[in-house]
Amino acid sequence: MSGSTITPWVVGNWKMNPLQADAGALLKNFKQLLNEQNIAEAACHIGVAPTAIALTTVQNELAQASRHIMTVAQDVSRVAGTGAYTGELSAELLKDYGVEFVLIGHSERREIFADQPHIINEKVKNALNAGLTVIYCVGESLEQRESGQAEQVVLQQICDIAAVVQAEQWKQIVVAYEPIWAIGTGKTASPEDAQAMHAKIREGLSQITPMGLHTAILYGGSVKPENAVELAACPDINGALVGGASLNAESFYKIAQAFANTK
Ligand code: 13P
Repeated sequence: MSGSTITPWVVGNWKMNPLQADAGALLKNFKQLLNEQNIAEAACHIGVAPTAIALTTVQNELAQASRHIMTVAQDVSRVAGTGAYTGELSAELLKDYGVEFVLIGHSERREIFADQPHIINEKVKNALNAGLTVIYCVGESLEQRESGQAEQVVLQQICDIAAVVQAEQWKQIVVAYEPIWAIGTGKTASPEDAQAMHAKIREGLSQITPMGLHTAILYGGSVKPENAVELAACPDINGALVGGASLNAESFYKIAQAFANTK
């Protein structure tokens, strides 16, 4: 079983970065690189997940790029629709403002902001029902890996959302495997370990839905131009969710190029 025919996705997760002037320069440089040497849309989907306050500005900037680049929200409210929910941003609002993609279940949300599985399920359900594509993040901690629980933890996270994803909605799901110990640490999973987990995720997904064979499974955790080529060569690694390196236009471009070239 292999996902090597899936068009890769490379998505930059800016997290709570950068300031406005730096974001402007980053986008300008990235668009310039694409102008000089385009990466074909058929070879790689590219997306950027800015802060909520920058979504519309970034979206307008990306509309001027030489190819389609997705604007991705970093999170969504557990509450649907509109109403008296101070501070919240619903799936319907994202959709109404033209944002079609959202990250849900990032380990930083799970750990720092107490996004429990039932909260994540509400978010996933709302996002799918509003017609968004969800990049659903999973991953184990160092402790879980060292005690041999990594696979079980990650497969459980996949199973968790099965309760709210309707059969025809699996095509709106992209999975991002991000081992927590590899995020922002400079330590990346070896291509062998990452491929092994991706294959397990694909197997788990395929037991839930026939779409599992076609689901893009991205790797995240210290992805850099230096390790992107090796990761991209793995049959079940269908792209990258990039944190730190996406804040540098050249690094992000090279990572996208690595995935575009090997698939
Ligand atoms: P880094 O690439 O900075 O390790 O972050 C990965 C990540 O969390 C992307 O969502």
